[in-house]
Amino acid sequence: MRQATSLQTTIDLENVGFDRGAHILLQRALKALPVGASLAVTGSDPALKVHLAAWCRQRGYMFEAAEGPIAGVVRRTDLDGARWLGAERAGGFSAMGVVARPRSSWGLAARGALVEAGGPESGFDLDEKTQVWTDLAPRLYAQAAASQWDPATAVDWQAPLTLPPDVEAAVVQVMTYLVENEQAALAVPARFLGRIHPHFREVVQFLAVQVADEARHAEVFARRAGLHGDELGTSSVAGRASLATLLAEPDFALASFLLSVMGEGTFLNLLAFLEKFAPDLLTREITRLARLDETRHVAFAMGHLESQLEQQPALRDRLRAAVERRYETLKTTAGLGEDVSDALVVMAAGSWEPAAIARGFDAVSSLQSEMADGRERRLVRLGFPASEAVSLSARHTRNFM
Ligand SMILES: [Fe+2]
Ligand SMILES: [Fe+2]
Repeated sequence: MRQATSLQTTIDLENVGFDRGAHILLQRALKALPVGASLAVTGSDPALKVHLAAWCRQRGYMFEAAEGPIAGVVRRTDLDGARWLGAERAGGFSAMGVVARPRSSWGLAARGALVEAGGPESGFDLDEKTQVWTDLAPRLYAQAAASQWDPATAVDWQAPLTLPPDVEAAVVQVMTYLVENEQAALAVPARFLGRIHPHFREVVQFLAVQVADEARHAEVFARRAGLHGDELGTSSVAGRASLATLLAEPDFALASFLLSVMGEGTFLNLLAFLEKFAPDLLTREITRLARLDETRHVAFAMGHLESQLEQQPALRDRLRAAVERRYETLKTTAGLGEDVSDALVVMAAGSWEPAAIARGFDAVSSLQSEMADGRERRLVRLGFPASEAVSLSARHTRNFM
């Protein structure tokens, strides 16, 4: 098949009709012509004449019928590109091309695409760079995508495992608590994901992987809990009340602060504790894998909040108020259920000797002060004075997350 070049004024479509791509060949040939030039079209498809006329009408090309072997003559006018009048680029392709406030009508268009004017409003209400963006997003997303592990094969589920029944029960109790917390950690970012303007693609991608991470964490902890029986541990009202306050936070920055900086930050210590004290290799391995993912979740939230605080120092007052509000809501609840805290002591004790239980108790107390230190360090990094970091950290939920 012969195709038009910029110098040709005739195109032979051979037997290709509009039902098999004739318009693509025509479009290319017309694009190569200057405005005002004509293109004679020939071809053997029986419907060519009729279809060519209709296509020209639809696209705004001038069409003249012709006799003989020529199906018609198409003239290029300066209205050909009318559809793209008013079109604009949706920012730039790379992360450097992120704009301060993408238009709602850009909607799901790829960042950097030429967007035809008009179209529906998209309804993504988290649409300001200062609200959602961090320059860390592209790098952390790439790292997250590269670090995915398969729950089925990352650990050996078949490894022989015989723990005394009451030690196994302590592990099951802690796993039951972890699943509950992982489910909250999944639901919170999932609620914001669909509200973030897709222009901030790497942020959406990062959060999508974070949600997938939490899905895997819930899976491995549930699987470990059910390894030797299907009776799980307890779930306390206080624990669920604490997690409910995370789900109730409607502001993205505040939710990310409470969940990822305060809660998941605290969980880094808990997971490291389990990695050290869990009585079996399998439990140590799954808590290690979860901790590596959580480190990334905390890093992302810190980066996101640091970028925001640089531009809006008043956000610090809102972060402070969010901690106070949550504290007021939860202050009459019991915090971490006794079932969970006792199970942590038993795991750290490793035996039922009174001296071992006392050592386990001390280890859990040290864990709590390490958690507080970690929170204080992060609060100081976010610009809170050291003394205030101590008091805010102390007001964090006793349920850890
Ligand atoms: Fe998690
Ligand atoms: Fe997480």
